[in-house]
Amino acid sequence: MSGTAHSLTEFNTLGLMQGCQQLQRLNSTESIIEFCRVYDSQSQPLLVLGGGSNLVLTDDLEGTVIKIESKGICLSEDNEYHYLSVAAGEDWSRFVASMVNQGINGLENLALIPGTVGAAPIQNIGAYGVEFEKVCDWVEFYHLQHKTVTRLTAAECQFGYRDSIFKNALKNQTVILRVGFKLTKHWQPVVNYGPLSDFNVKTITANDIFKRVCEIRQSKLPDPKVIGNVGSFFKNPVVSTECHQNLLKRYPDMVAYLVDNGVKLAAGWLIDQAGLKGYKQGNVGVHDKQALVLVNHGGATGTEIVNLASYVTATVLDKFGVELEVEPRFIGKHGEIEFHG
Ligand code: EPU
Repeated sequence: MSGTAHSLTEFNTLGLMQGCQQLQRLNSTESIIEFCRVYDSQSQPLLVLGGGSNLVLTDDLEGTVIKIESKGICLSEDNEYHYLSVAAGEDWSRFVASMVNQGINGLENLALIPGTVGAAPIQNIGAYGVEFEKVCDWVEFYHLQHKTVTRLTAAECQFGYRDSIFKNALKNQTVILRVGFKLTKHWQPVVNYGPLSDFNVKTITANDIFKRVCEIRQSKLPDPKVIGNVGSFFKNPVVSTECHQNLLKRYPDMVAYLVDNGVKLAAGWLIDQAGLKGYKQGNVGVHDKQALVLVNHGGATGTEIVNLASYVTATVLDKFGVELEVEPRFIGKHGEIEFHG
């Protein structure tokens, strides 16, 4: 950190040693609205921070960081559904565990994902066969330029694979305040993902899935409290069926899934097959149990992570002719920047 007033090292799960000029921790929806109301969005960069679990800080931010720490879960129900209204600063993982414990089902596949509830809609978090959009009812946010509080229905959020309106038309214009969930009381387990498929669907409970997902995540994904990371660093790339057929000739055991717009390849498999699993470069590296995850072995800077990401992208492109896209957001000196491998 050079010449900035506040360290952000403990606020980004990669543990990168960057800072910012001002840091405000906002612990209620009212205080977030009050901050946004008077904030001049033209004056200097603003970074809205939830759990910091999907961010790569490539530099010190010459601007303000607001850390969203609002809390509160309101429950209501009718004959068909549980409705939850959850403050943006609630910890996602704790929220999911608490719902499963109370017998409110539907979130169990999304257990143990780091980050906050308010960050979940931005990239439409997903795991083990369920994406956030499946459980989302609405998202409420403050619009920084219009100075209004607005609620979008799940359909209006334009969710896609690790994508939403908050990464596109509304990029960097909103601060998410609350998220609404709608969970059916006629629960159906989602167990189509490989390691969940041996369950007996007649007797299975949401808690069984929750426990299994926690076990899988703990065995494969590094705990950010122990080793800095942002989960998947790359998205699973979608290629044309023609491209997939050509690759299959060279790599018959390639992992792939049919999707609407082509064939989705496993980026982890590509990186692994490119010989980079466990690869180290200075203070950073590719995780040795899941090649989709880049890690900070201690004391890394944003530049080291960027260089490693570029190296991984170039190596995969060279070997397979497939371009990887990064999953986390990159934040530079003046705010969000694009990553160009
Ligand atoms: N694979 C390898 N080597 C590796 C990693 C994966 O060969 O080093 C193979 C696996 O054997 C498997 C395939 O690649 O056949 C897919 O791997 P996995 O099931 O672990 O899932 P993923 O595609 O690597 C995605 C999400 C994860 C999510 C899991 C489970 C993305 C970018 N990632 O990973 O999300 O937990 O599926 O649903 O879609 C995250 O976004 O941060 C995240 C962890």
